[in-house]
Amino acid sequence: MSFLDQLQELSTKSKCFNAACWGIFGFGVIKLTTLILRCMALFADLYILPPVNFSKYGAKKGAYCVITGASDGIGKEFAYQMASRGFNVILISRTISKLEALKEEIEKKYNVRAKILAVDISADDSSNYTKIRQICDSLPITALINNVGLSHSIPVPFLETEEDELRNIITINNTATLMITQIVTPHIIQSIKSKQASRGLILTMGSFGGLIPTPLLATYSGSKAFLQSWSNSLAGELSGDKIDVQLVLSYLVTSSMSKIRRTSMMIPSPKKFVQSTLGSFGRRCGSQERYATMTPFWSHAIYEFVIDETFGVYSKIVNAINYSFHKSIRTRALKKAATLAKQQ
Ligand SMILES: NC(=O)c1ccc[n+]([C@@H]2O[C@H](COP(=O)([O-])OP(=O)(O)OC[C@H]3O[C@@H](n4cnc5c(N)ncnc54)[C@H](OP(=O)(O)O)[C@@H]3O)[C@@H](O)[C@H]2O)c1
Repeated sequence: MSFLDQLQELSTKSKCFNAACWGIFGFGVIKLTTLILRCMALFADLYILPPVNFSKYGAKKGAYCVITGASDGIGKEFAYQMASRGFNVILISRTISKLEALKEEIEKKYNVRAKILAVDISADDSSNYTKIRQICDSLPITALINNVGLSHSIPVPFLETEEDELRNIITINNTATLMITQIVTPHIIQSIKSKQASRGLILTMGSFGGLIPTPLLATYSGSKAFLQSWSNSLAGELSGDKIDVQLVLSYLVTSSMSKIRRTSMMIPSPKKFVQSTLGSFGRRCGSQERYATMTPFWSHAIYEFVIDETFGVYSKIVNAINYSFHKSIRTRALKKAATLAKQQ
């Protein structure tokens, strides 16, 4: 008797076997349907739904947006694009000369006000927070972009990570981000109460380094994973206050942090990345399974979606691939450093 005949006989004789077959079939249908629905939602988020109207966040009504790490890379692009939407901006970063040039450019080009503050956030000094409190004082702030971030100078085994680098990453990415959010959020709540805007916005830059555990960037990876959980929790707490809290996930973007200059399908410029973030703000795009999280750039979104739907971000295989990817970056970086040292 063939295998198929045996199955047929079993199904006619055993009610249990029949029920199990229907169960497996039903489970398959549910799985397939949710996958198709998620694919459709991803497509709609990326390509169909209209861009968000920022007037609900106070655009063109005199509202302010605070942006950290605003003098370079992704933060600088957030400054341009929020100003172009009609927000006054408060720009915070380390280098005063860069901030002054940016303030002048933004005020001239977009006819908005720009306030600047140069502080070294890695110091975690109470005087820094006092200065941030002072610059925010009495201003109608409706938006906060927690963009400032630090990664390892090159991929490095955790046990060899310099203490300074380890402390700076945690201070900048975590402690300072939390402190600044505690300072700015009451202003946003107040601005909504006084009808400066109907909603507030808090956007925090996460990373694929935090989404997927990343060997050789362990401290950075942990700091961004921390932001993921913190930001999602905050989204729940502040939803009653009409504040939209979003964690923004990104794979590589050209910038001085990534040390990549050439754009590609997977690596957009800060301009393109921020366009996609603000254009789809509040939609999940690649982060279909995550609350208050968005992966806005199309190729990053598809990449995350595929990992989520196949091996999963916490799988051994994804960890191993990530490890070998960063190992090869480390090897190249060490070679380059050795060549430079020889030349000097
Ligand atoms: N680029 C990527 O591939 C990528 C990928 C995923 C996530 N992200 C995240 O996106 C965010 C922005 O990254 P980016 O690539 O645009 O970085 P970036 O080009 O290195 O710019 C960092 C910004 O932060 C400021 N900053 C750095 N250290 C500071 C400190 N100690 N105190 C005050 N300000 C400081 C810098 O100001 P100064 O110029 O004055 O020092 C600069 O304005 C980060 O949170 C990062 O983790 C980036």
